[in-house]
Amino acid sequence: MACAIGSCAGCVVKTIENGEAKYRRVCVDGPVFPAEILPEFA
Ligand code: FES
Repeated sequence: MACAIGSCAGCVVKTIENGEAKYRRVCVDGPVFPAEILPEFA
């Protein structure tokens, strides 16, 4: 994790929400995400 304040996008992870691909920042949107929105676990 680089800045940890949401400005550098160094911690982005891809999610699938309502069938649409999105990118979330782990430092401000997470760090915990529902497994069903993470492509690795869907
Ligand atoms: S660490 Fe910079 S946006 Fe998350």
